[in-house]
Parts: sequence; C-alpha cells; structure tokens
Amino acid sequence: MTDFLVKRDELRECRLAESAAPEPGPGEALLRVESFGLTANNITYAVFGEAMSSWNFFPAEDGWGRVPMWGFATVERSAADGIAEGTRVFGYLPPSSHLLVAPVANAGGFVDAAPHRAALPSAYQGYLANDTDPFYRADTEEIQMLLRPLFFTSFLIDDQLDDEGLLGRGPIVISSASSKTAIAAAFLLSRREGAELIGLTSARNREFVEGLGIYGRTVAYEEIETLERGPATLVDIAGDGALRRAVHTHYGDALVQSLTVGVTHWEELGAGGDAELPGPTPSFFFAPDRVTKRSEDWGRDGLEGRVSDAWHPFCEWTGGWLETIRGAGFEALRDAYLEVIEGGVAPNRAHVLSL
Ligand SMILES: NC(=O)c1ccc[n+]([C@@H]2O[C@H](COP(=O)([O-])OP(=O)(O)OC[C@H]3O[C@@H](n4cnc5c(N)ncnc54)[C@H](OP(=O)(O)O)[C@@H]3O)[C@@H](O)[C@H]2O)c1
Repeated sequence: MTDFLVKRDELRECRLAESAAPEPGPGEALLRVESFGLTANNITYAVFGEAMSSWNFFPAEDGWGRVPMWGFATVERSAADGIAEGTRVFGYLPPSSHLLVAPVANAGGFVDAAPHRAALPSAYQGYLANDTDPFYRADTEEIQMLLRPLFFTSFLIDDQLDDEGLLGRGPIVISSASSKTAIAAAFLLSRREGAELIGLTSARNREFVEGLGIYGRTVAYEEIETLERGPATLVDIAGDGALRRAVHTHYGDALVQSLTVGVTHWEELGAGGDAELPGPTPSFFFAPDRVTKRSEDWGRDGLEGRVSDAWHPFCEWTGGWLETIRGAGFEALRDAYLEVIEGGVAPNRAHVLSL
C-alpha cells in the first residue's frame, strides 16, 4: 500500500510511504483507490486540517497527513455484509493506493462507519455505487472527480442567496471568480432572473473569466474602486484578508451580506489586519450545514434530485472548456500538488491523478 503524505506544519513538504496492504477483518472492506481530482479545495482541507479536522478522516503517522480527495474506488476485498467485491464507488478518499473501511450498506452504496470517522460531518462519509448514482455517467468521470463536490457547494450558495432574498439587493460580488467553485455558483446564478454578478479575479485570469460569459462584469482585484457603491453581497472564495477589507471598506454599511466560502489565497488569510471590518460581520459558509437544512426541508432524496438535475447541464457546459491533466505515480502527484499549492494551474485546466 502506498500513501502520499504531507507534513502538517509545512504543507510544501511531501513524501511517499509504503506499507503492507491491510487485511479486511470481519465487517471491513478494502477499497482500491483508482483516481481523484486535485484543486485548491483540497489545499484548503490541508490548510484547515486541524481546525476542520480534515486530517482525522484518513489518519497518518505523527506530524503527517493524507489530504482528502474526491474520486473513484473499487471494493477489492470484502468481509462486510452487503458489500460485494468489484463494486465501484464515488466518495471521499485519501491520496493512497488503498483505503480500509468499515462499510454499512445503504440504498445508494455504503457509509464508512469506522469509529475514528464517527464524529466527522456525515456529508463526507457516503460512498455512492456508480450503478445507482444519479450523478454518474461514464463519459463525465473526470469532471465528476474535479467538480462534483464543488458544484454541490455552489448549488447551496445559489440556493442560500435566493432563499435569503439577496439577489434583488444589488450585485453579488464573487472573489476568486476563476475558481471552479465560483464558476459553478456564477453558472447557476446567471440563470436566475434579475441576478447581477460581478467576478473579482487576478489580472492574469481576467480574460478567462470574461470569456466564460456568466459574470455580468469582471473586475481585477486592483480595480475594486471602479465598482459602483450601493447595496451588494460578497461571496468570498479568495479568503484574502486584505482583499476582503478592501471590499468591505468600499461598500461600507451598504454591504448586505459577506459570505466566507473559501481560501484559495491561503497564504493571505491573515492579511488585512485585525481592525474591525466596516459593514456586516462575515459569516462562514459551511456546505454540510446547508445540506442538513435542505435535507430537512426537501428530504435527502429531494436535495440530491435537485442538485443532480442542475449538475448535468453544468457538466456538459464545462466539458466545452475544461481541460484535464492526467497524472499517475508519486512524482506526478507531487508536482501537481505543488503546482496547485502555488496557484500555478491555469483556470481552464485541472489535475486528475492516481497513485
Ligand atoms: N465552505 C465550503 O463548504 C466550501 C466547499 C467547496 C469549496 N470551498 C472552497 O472554495 C475554494 C475554491 O476551491 P476550487 O477547488 O474551486 O479552486 P480552484 O478552481 O482550484 O481555484 C483556482 C483559482 O484560485 C485562485 N488561486 C488558487 N491558488 C492560489 C494561490 N496560491 N495564490 C493565489 N490565487 C490562487 C486563482 O483564482 P483568482 O486569480 O481568480 O483569485 C485560481 O485561478 C477553496 O478554498 C475551497 O475550499 C468551500
């Protein structure tokens, strides 16, 4: 068994660890991890490894972590009831060749009921069998690995902004507008009547963002001053402290809502100082909380159905411009990981890897 390990307190340091593949005991199954997507979202899991307990999903030796990924795996050995060998699933996986799980079968596949995962959010515990998964299509596997969890978040952001009546109260200003999460949210919002979208991005990604045709206006980070003052909502995916301060200062008390979604600019998190921010206190958007709310409102199947209905047109649209970069083995994974951590991947490209 091989694991890609990252040093928890020095995220640029990584190495390979090799060990004997575990033997599944009663009630356990061994998954063979096939491939997974790697974007800034996975770097955020590492940045908040302690704060969000992301290191706890796939434990590693002291001081090291396995950064969670989303991808496909196959049940290689099973000693668990109702879990057939050969079953292929989509879910939350370590960057490893294998994963030992304690599966409890359900209608869509199984959940990993391993004790060390019990206290972690349920949104990350499910493994969905390809043959019954409403999101699954054989010809979109790469896009599923890269964008499916991000799209789920974007669906929930679009839904929350509508639910809270924010679409009719000035523009929605989205930072890191070139990120996949921002693009998916803007794609959905652009289909809502009356929604006005402003994409904030770095100068180097501006042309790409404009070319997508989903934001009404694209503005570089240096040009915030050119935005018309008045009511607006910030959906902050960059997480750059100085940028957030600039937007809050620009709109002041007219800023209706400030939603903190991501930290693509992870090394600028603390920039911007400690002084009180003008306008509303930012609220943290945590997808699992909205999943809980909408599962109560619509039922879990109702939520999944709505998201998968919205997913397929998005998936088709993305296929028209997103280029995947395939890599296999430790060196390919290390190079891709370091490229993503430095923000070096062009926004129309994304890595799909296997160990
Ligand atoms: N709260 C939640 O529940 C939730 C759920 C899903 C995702 N998220 C978060 O949303 C964020 C976006 O994830 P993603 O996978 O969609 O990202 P992505 O597509 O990989 O984002 C790439 C973009 O992020 C910016 N960027 C990335 N790394 C950078 C760096 N080192 N320095 C400067 N800019 C950098 C650049 O955009 P610009 O030039 O446009 O800034 C780049 O084009 C992540 O932080 C993720 O964790 C949060």
